[in-house]
Amino acid sequence: MQRYVKFLLAAVALTFPYIGHAQQLDSVTADGAALYGKHCAKCHGKEGRANTLRGWFTSAQDLTDPVWQAETSDADIIDALEKGPRSMPSYAKKLSSSEQHALVDLVRSF
Ligand code: HEC
Repeated sequence: MQRYVKFLLAAVALTFPYIGHAQQLDSVTADGAALYGKHCAKCHGKEGRANTLRGWFTSAQDLTDPVWQAETSDADIIDALEKGPRSMPSYAKKLSSSEQHALVDLVRSF
């Protein structure tokens, strides 16, 4: 029993600094999935299908559409983030360049 408690304490002690470290890293290398969840999923849907109420109201782009993926360049996606086409807000001031590129990578993974 005592060994078990010691093991648990050691595990907790080893895990905590690691969690802190991981969070520190995230703030440096932008986490596309977290940014997407915070800013984009409400309209474009968790999986990019725009199958949300706001996606429907705003006619947000289905980011999984293969035709759209093929016709759209990474620069087009950055452009959309900067300008905010139609009812999409502009993220020029809200997202840094590295955050925008992380989002491009994520959108490409849909
Ligand atoms: C308020 C709802 C809303 C939010 C929030 C939103 N979008 Fe959009 N988005 C739209 C709409 C509406 C369009 C379609 C505009 C059009 O018809 O060209 C669009 C279009 C796009 C396009 C396609 C642009 C093109 O050239 O075809 C991309 C890429 C995109 N959004 C990515 C994102 C990302 C990434 C985020 C989060 C940072 C985001 N959107 C947040 C509503 C939204």
